[in-house]
Amino acid sequence: MAKTFKPTFYITTPIYYVNDIPHIGHAYTTIIADALARFKRLAGSDVFFLTGTDEHGQKIEKAAAEKGLSPKELADRVVVRIKDLWKALDISNDYFIRTTEPFHERGVQKIFQRLLEKGDIYKGTYQGWYCVGEENFLAEDVPLAADGRKICPDCGRPATIVEESTYFFRLSAYAGPLLDFYAQHQNFVRPQSRMNEVVSFVRMGLKDLSITRTTVKWGIPVPGDPAHSIYVWFDALHNYLTGIGYDWDMKLCEKFWPADIHLIGKDILRFHAIFWPAFLMAAGFALPRCVFGHGWWLKDETKMSKSKGNVLDPYVIIRAFGPDPLRYFLLREIPIGTDGNFSHEGFIHRVNSDLANDFGNLVHRTLTMIRTYSQGIIEDPGDELEEDAKVRVDFDGLKEKAYGFYDSAAINKALEEIWAYINAVNKYLAAREPWKLAKDPGQRKRLTRVLYQAAAAIRGVSYLLFPVMPASCRKIWEFLSEKNPIEALPWADLKLSGLAVGQQTREPRPLFPRVDLKDFLAEEARQTAPAKTEETMDIVTFEEFKKMDLRVAKILKAEKVPGTTKLLKMEADIGGEKRQMVAGVADTYAPEDLVGKELIVIVNLKPAVIRGIESQAMLLAAVIDDKAVIPFFDRELPPGAKVK
Ligand code: MSP
Repeated sequence: MAKTFKPTFYITTPIYYVNDIPHIGHAYTTIIADALARFKRLAGSDVFFLTGTDEHGQKIEKAAAEKGLSPKELADRVVVRIKDLWKALDISNDYFIRTTEPFHERGVQKIFQRLLEKGDIYKGTYQGWYCVGEENFLAEDVPLAADGRKICPDCGRPATIVEESTYFFRLSAYAGPLLDFYAQHQNFVRPQSRMNEVVSFVRMGLKDLSITRTTVKWGIPVPGDPAHSIYVWFDALHNYLTGIGYDWDMKLCEKFWPADIHLIGKDILRFHAIFWPAFLMAAGFALPRCVFGHGWWLKDETKMSKSKGNVLDPYVIIRAFGPDPLRYFLLREIPIGTDGNFSHEGFIHRVNSDLANDFGNLVHRTLTMIRTYSQGIIEDPGDELEEDAKVRVDFDGLKEKAYGFYDSAAINKALEEIWAYINAVNKYLAAREPWKLAKDPGQRKRLTRVLYQAAAAIRGVSYLLFPVMPASCRKIWEFLSEKNPIEALPWADLKLSGLAVGQQTREPRPLFPRVDLKDFLAEEARQTAPAKTEETMDIVTFEEFKKMDLRVAKILKAEKVPGTTKLLKMEADIGGEKRQMVAGVADTYAPEDLVGKELIVIVNLKPAVIRGIESQAMLLAAVIDDKAVIPFFDRELPPGAKVK
């Protein structure tokens, strides 16, 4: 059999520092990369999507010391949480690289050695202002502040003078070759405005770059001179090669290198558009095809960052809505390249209006009508009438436009077009009034065609939306009882009429529940309230403790709360009385794990309404890395037994 040729597509995110867990700004980079990777897979490319963590350097050394941990211990803890977050956000990376992995360290040392032998790395002495927060020497033209110190222009914190014997990379020799390369590859940096910024910077001339430190212990040792450790940026940038096999699977490396897109935030553009290609040229590698610098998410008009204390925790949103509304909002709200201001109002508006009203309702209404009027079966629609053709013709147009927009990373534009189509289908349904057709047996054929057209449209739309909202689109294909998963259908084969006739659809569950802004803000405040430390923990008197009615409860029934990833609804026997409970334990336990189990609940807590369901008791659990772990008993007890 002839082999079909699949073009390769290699996309990367920056590797994240492990001094803290990612906020929405970091999640943004990864979500964009994920959407593009998913699109390229549908479009028929052989994709490699790499993300990971940047674990060496002074920043991590310092953060670990503050927490009383070794840098590796801190990294190990944070990595688990980062991986969990990517899982919760449905990120489909092919590999997760850690710069502390031995193969990465070896790869970096090997390239270092090669450049040393070639003379592109040489030993000297360096004195300069260094910003620990940004792991970066300040440019010489940064002026001295009134107190005689320099302030880091990126993070606003004071820098310190560092003087040390160091190895330099001969960056000055690469200004000319870089300018030639930029001239021949106008799309190397996107958006275009950023390309201009890079070119003017290089035109001013480049100085050799200090790429080792003796003051930082937590790093990859220079081969043969271990008092020096390799500068964290030299180390980190090479993850893009070691992550696809450099030096340990050269076949894989050759298959995917050069990268098609290095997706990054605009703050790390110079590292990627100047240093990185210069390192690669020196070592004799081909250069990446594109460095795409996206804008920042701001909160109250300033960049979201840990040091400014204005970060938003993605988990708060994921817990309440699942991953898709956040993915949708971040990708829809701004073009990749400009800054955006994250507002709760804006987010809730998008969820309620675009997702719940426009799209969610269309799906729900269509499937409900098919259940009511056709026993849930997609019936043979017969010939298409001219008045129905628009839904199909517009879909063909949409498919082509969406392809173009996704392919040029204009995801927000693709989403705008998809929504215009969703609204047109909503109008089509309103105009055809299937509920009226259903009353007239003579209109049976018309009704079947209208329902088919709408169901085919939601199938097609969910295919096109899959790169952005994979979990919801998968559900829609399940509602429609599609035989194959979305990923199995090549983009080229997608047709509106691809919806098979005769299949029995399933009962639709709400995809995007509407949320009230006030409720969401209250929930966020509750979840982000600083945890009390032992010193500040309020003292509870025994009298107060005695007020709590803790009991053994036996779980009788358990099921997932639709539209959530974390919540289980349970019914428990608390001693001759049944109570309904909602708890955020679905990450750790499947419903069947809990049925028949006995655990501890508080039965006299004021009932709370969670996702519209009254919770009449609360179970006790430890929360480790955001996951609940329930204490169980070592023997069977009578339900309702008191726990004191
Ligand atoms: N470790 C380096 C990257 C090395 S790549 C070889 C680093 N890490 S980071 O964790 O600080 O940032 C990673 C990415 O998150 C960067 O692309 C950065 O631009 C992005 N963001 C951090 N805060 C952001 C916002 N508030 N908004 C959007 N993206 C932001 O830099």
